[in-house]
Amino acid sequence: MSKYLIAGNWKMNTNISEAKKLVSELKDEVSFTYEVDMLVCPPFTHLYPLSELVTDTKIKLGAQNSYYEESGAFTGEVSNDMIKSVGCQSVILGHSERREIFNESNEIINLKVKKTLNSGLNVILCIGESETSRENGQTNNILEKQLTECLAEIKDDTNLTIAYEPIWAIGTGKSATPNIISETHTFIKSYLNNHFGDNSIKILYGGSMKPENAESILRIDNVNGGLIGGASLKSDSFNSIYKIACNLI
Ligand code: PGA
Repeated sequence: MSKYLIAGNWKMNTNISEAKKLVSELKDEVSFTYEVDMLVCPPFTHLYPLSELVTDTKIKLGAQNSYYEESGAFTGEVSNDMIKSVGCQSVILGHSERREIFNESNEIINLKVKKTLNSGLNVILCIGESETSRENGQTNNILEKQLTECLAEIKDDTNLTIAYEPIWAIGTGKSATPNIISETHTFIKSYLNNHFGDNSIKILYGGSMKPENAESILRIDNVNGGLIGGASLKSDSFNSIYKIACNLI
């Protein structure tokens, strides 16, 4: 298993020509000799054309969401089977923007996590507290609730990754401090050990990660990579974060 996963969450950004250009620029820098996985998660419409571009490269493709039914009258939704059929390996679930803007509850996310894992795809489950919850000392309670409810009935951790994304650090330019990241990742790790026993679930950090802070974040114990938004939209910054991870091995 590779030591780090560097994942890009493109959110609702890029048109197809910008997306192809970005992936071509990433492709030039990523070689099979590095022990770090690179994953890009573009919008649904780009997955198929990009899957052709990344064939025979180390770049893996993921979706930013999926629905928990297989097919049928669910206008606007995309199933795991569809995602798999266009060459994806992973799906991001439970991102705070899905929770806040699209009202996704832990129960809905749990249905999605179960379905996605059952379909053989990797899940990156996002959890994280709001600024108010942190100020009120509620962080661990919130994270424990998210983990317990989103992972209910899940016994097999093989294809599971957790992304700790404090909501107040997402898109703000202000990442969490190394102390906060260290404490929180240790808490998540011990939760996962209690829940799954011995496991090798990666815990990614997300929230304003960029080349300037990547090294100090990736050096923290129990940080196994990053889920990167803004800085994944430019090949220079995403490639530099990737290289920083490679140099830490
Ligand atoms: P950011 O986004 O890196 O732009 O803060 C991270 C995310 O939302 O996954």
